[in-house]
Amino acid sequence: MRTIAVSNYKGGVGKTTTAVNLATIYAGQGKRVLLIDLDPQASATDYFGLYDRASEEHRTSIELLYGNASVEDVAYETDTENLWVVPSTIELVDQNELLLREQRLKFALDDADADYDICLIDCSPVMKRLAFNAYLAAAGTGLIIIPVKLDSTVMRGTALTASATRQIADALRMPTPEFRILRTCVPGRMTNAEETGMAVLDSFFPGQQFETVIHASTKVAQGSWQWQPVATFEPGSRPARDYVDLAKEVEDALR
Ligand SMILES: Nc1ncnc2c1ncn2[C@@H]1O[C@H](COP(=O)(O)OP(=O)(O)OP(=O)(O)O)[C@@H](O)[C@H]1O
Ligand SMILES: [Mg+2]
Repeated sequence: MRTIAVSNYKGGVGKTTTAVNLATIYAGQGKRVLLIDLDPQASATDYFGLYDRASEEHRTSIELLYGNASVEDVAYETDTENLWVVPSTIELVDQNELLLREQRLKFALDDADADYDICLIDCSPVMKRLAFNAYLAAAGTGLIIIPVKLDSTVMRGTALTASATRQIADALRMPTPEFRILRTCVPGRMTNAEETGMAVLDSFFPGQQFETVIHASTKVAQGSWQWQPVATFEPGSRPARDYVDLAKEVEDALR
């Protein structure tokens, strides 16, 4: 199993959109996909309509991380063939992060290694300790995707996220996880603002960006009103095609 964490300490940059679209695309290609929601906002969970059930049945990433549950105990089958989801709920925000062992998720995924081909982790913008779990799970053979928007906040969160991936691996003497930056919400016609954003990224992260960019489209938000990834909501749309290209580029990067 290859593990891909989607993380940025800046909010609203397209983490969840990226995680659910890649998960859906890989599942559609026949790969066995596990999507883990590590955000108390539970947006990825909502995409699969699992919030209430997960809450009642106590089958969430809380039990996975803090209760020593196995992936098998908490993963839900979804209406999307080949796609399983470990949901989250708002209560994840209440967990005492100090009790969380940084390698807990990695060990849980090691145990489920034979059951899935790809694991995608949708991280929270603010819960750093949870993100550390995701980074360590992606260290070695996986990848961290850092989505960014090309506005004046392009570096806010991004540099911090990139350096955090190194810090935690160094602290625990683990291999440094690889990261790549993904430019999201890119308008069809670039203005000075986006050009400047690109130049800033190029100077700080040369060679660490995906070639594929995800274009902005109202189809993304329209699909999300029906909790549908744009990949299935409007497969012919620009961002849907971009996500297919990204899925390929991610696979190439994993080799
Ligand atoms: N390519 C796109 N085109 C247009 N809108 C987009 C695109 N990608 C994401 N959005 C919109 O941007 C908003 C934020 O996206 P998303 O929820 O994926 O970000 P996030 O990084 O997961 O946010 P958070 O930090 O709150 O978890 C959503 O309203 C989403 O519909
Ligand atoms: Mg999100």
